[in-house]
Amino acid sequence: MHRRRFCVANWKMNFNSSDTKSFLENWGKKDLNNKEVKTIFCPSFTELNTTAELLHNSDSELGAQNVYYESNGAYTGEISCRMLKDLGCNWVIIGHSERRAIFGETDEMVCHKLDKLTSENMYPIVCIGETKDERENGKTEEVLSRQLLVAFENQKGKNIEHTVIAYEPVWAIGTGITATIDMISEAHQCIRNIFNTNGFNGNEISILYGGSVTNENAAELSNITDVDGFLVGGASLDVEKFYAIYNQL
Ligand code: 13P
Repeated sequence: MHRRRFCVANWKMNFNSSDTKSFLENWGKKDLNNKEVKTIFCPSFTELNTTAELLHNSDSELGAQNVYYESNGAYTGEISCRMLKDLGCNWVIIGHSERRAIFGETDEMVCHKLDKLTSENMYPIVCIGETKDERENGKTEEVLSRQLLVAFENQKGKNIEHTVIAYEPVWAIGTGITATIDMISEAHQCIRNIFNTNGFNGNEISILYGGSVTNENAAELSNITDVDGFLVGGASLDVEKFYAIYNQL
């Protein structure tokens, strides 16, 4: 898989079953003729089944917002790769900043999850990004480098072409403050360089931007050379807004 364009909805802890049905029934009526763009919906675990049924026969795909790295056992509240695959869910977001900040997900855990997903031939969406403090202290590159190199430690020499990176500056998530074009461009180039200088082919990896993407800024952001698509939170809860974003990719 070479670099592709993605429009990924991270619904976070929002939709219940009737919300999911109403969104996807409307989505199904849209003219989804932009075949260059892969659309992925990531609902809560409880809505994976409904989403899978509603996406059946569509070009959109199913993703989860998290997974645990053990195969099975006494891990109350966790979900395995096998359970996701059973539902036709092949994409999984890992290392989201909310998982890191609120639930203590470490770089090492992201590494275990990445190892597990790749060994199961699933497709990880690995989220990385700096906090406001880290950016203000000139640490952005150092943070991105650490997050990537720890996560990909065991992937050297392996085929990572199905892995997608999402650059989501923590301070831009859910705040309405989008990173500037220069910041995004610089960060995406930096990510490609980190891969290229560490034994991977950074030019083949799709890198998405996430953080206050809306129907209003999507056109401008999608023109940035190194941006291969978006990971959308808030605006993905509104069919019209998400469709407008899809159309601008
Ligand atoms: P918002 O689009 O709401 O800023 O969220 C971004 C995000 O966290 C997607 O994973």
